[in-house]
Amino acid sequence: MCGIIGYTGSEDVKEILLDALELLEYRGYDSAGIAVKEEKTGETKVCKCAGRVSDLRMICETEKLLSTCGIGHTRWATHGGVNDSNAHPHRCGRVTLVHNGIIENYRELASDSGLTDKLVSETDSEVVAALLNYYYKDDPKEAIKKTVKRLTGTFALVILFEDCPDVIYSVRNVSPIVATLCKEGAMLASDLTALCRFTNEYFVVPEYHILELHKDHIVMTDFDDHVVEPEFLTVDWQLNAAGKNGYPFYMEKEIMEQPLAIEQTIRGRIVHGLPDFTADGVPDHIFTDCDRICIVACGTAMHAGLVAQALVKSIIHMHIDVELASEFMYSDPVIDEKTLVIAVSQSGETIDTLEALKYAKKRGATCLSVINVKGSSIARESDYVLYTCAGPEIAVASTKAYTTQLSVFYLMTAKMAQLRGIFTEEETLCFIRELERTPDTIKEVLESRKEIHIVAKKVLSAKDLFMIGRGLDHSALLEGSLKLKEVSYIHSEAYASGELKHGPIALITQDTPVVAAATQEKLLSKELSNIREVKSRGADVLLFIKKALAGNLDQEYEVITLPDMRDEFMVLPTSVALQLLAYYVSSDKGFDVDKPRNLAKVVTVE
Ligand code: M6R
Repeated sequence: MCGIIGYTGSEDVKEILLDALELLEYRGYDSAGIAVKEEKTGETKVCKCAGRVSDLRMICETEKLLSTCGIGHTRWATHGGVNDSNAHPHRCGRVTLVHNGIIENYRELASDSGLTDKLVSETDSEVVAALLNYYYKDDPKEAIKKTVKRLTGTFALVILFEDCPDVIYSVRNVSPIVATLCKEGAMLASDLTALCRFTNEYFVVPEYHILELHKDHIVMTDFDDHVVEPEFLTVDWQLNAAGKNGYPFYMEKEIMEQPLAIEQTIRGRIVHGLPDFTADGVPDHIFTDCDRICIVACGTAMHAGLVAQALVKSIIHMHIDVELASEFMYSDPVIDEKTLVIAVSQSGETIDTLEALKYAKKRGATCLSVINVKGSSIARESDYVLYTCAGPEIAVASTKAYTTQLSVFYLMTAKMAQLRGIFTEEETLCFIRELERTPDTIKEVLESRKEIHIVAKKVLSAKDLFMIGRGLDHSALLEGSLKLKEVSYIHSEAYASGELKHGPIALITQDTPVVAAATQEKLLSKELSNIREVKSRGADVLLFIKKALAGNLDQEYEVITLPDMRDEFMVLPTSVALQLLAYYVSSDKGFDVDKPRNLAKVVTVE
């Protein structure tokens, strides 16, 4: 959480920092700030405020900031409320810094070093600035080493020292920092989105290394002062200069990008019609050596895991658990050398998922991850990685990351079924052919978005809403419900339809609309009975149903038909329709769809 940017080079730093902060704002948007080195005086000037980057931009417009070196920050509050003084950068004496992470021992540090009186904010970050200033005796690296040795917690620190014109220092533990050197200068950021505009070459700063950015070169050393050469990676993302590409929100743009994202994710992993992970360096034996699978993930990525679980259980008949990453290591999980642990994450930086993976590795499990961001922390910790090819996902609500994760799981299920002799070659080919139809099927759902928009208006005024479905529909609705609640602030709960009668039906009234999904033929009659039960209690029903099953429906429901696929695949068109529902409810209510309150795109605190 929190977005960090640093730049030193030949360009006007103010614009570079503000533009980058806008791109990084999805990491936190409680407050924003920049610090720049004044060209003429060499002094460090700080502008910061509670609010959005757009508020900061207005403040900066009134300031003369002639500079080509500076740092910036967009905050997701952890320690201290949302106000101007808690906003970063923090300055103490000859040190100005921005911080991402949490310093757990900040109170002790402040009192033990007699710094408490010097602090003006309530943040843990300012204590680090004070400590750095305390240790700074004209040698930035010594000050960094002495300070870092005393910190407990996670941190990405980006620092300006008063007497080091044009140089930016950085050091990190857990919280990510990526950096690059390009023709415009040297840059670093919390994630790639801020760098893509300048270059597609970058490197991940290793933990406990000190990075120095100079205008035309970069120096990286370990804590024993050995020079370490950066390992550059290449990213194939193109951040469109037009940003939202004409769409009012990234969420809509990203929903619309799904056919292409899925196509890119599966292409290259289908060879002669069969699933093939050779190009990823993922050997087949990991799918046959294991006798159980455990998926660890959070939020939407965990919901993708639930779909994988349903597929693997019903097709492979194998033991597979899905664990909330935040609960995993505290729940005494059954993990050993015969367990394949699969971590799923868009960002590859979610700390709970990262910690769960490290725990599983220590217990001897083989670790595979399904990740969108190349070179991210989870990817680097894993034995094997299958990258989704969703491209940058900027909206906080995850959409294309989810459907590309599902696509990887369909490939994986087919691969396992083939390897374990459950599918014949013909059956595998047939399963994969259905997966290849997905981009076109999703296009059909996207073409019907006006219809979904009309239906969305029916739930605009709801305070509470229920979603019901059975089997894979329930998995899709869990994700649909998360989407709706996070962007529209409607309280929404997804239930397995059969569970309603065991409690939740008590809440059904004419004021609680029900979204139902019915795409699984073998469950249809039972699902329709459950839908009638809520209708009888006065609920308005929005029914998402597979076209082939929509024959003799009661007229009393709002019906949205979904293009036909094999039942196992219907979760894909259903999920896209539910994403559109959530999107339209949020945008019709006038909310900032891409930046729901209290949330951040990348969750790097436990
Ligand atoms: O980057 P990750 O996929 O690890 O993120 C996991 C969750 O934080 C994320 O999916 C979250 O639930 C989304 N905001 C939901 O739309």
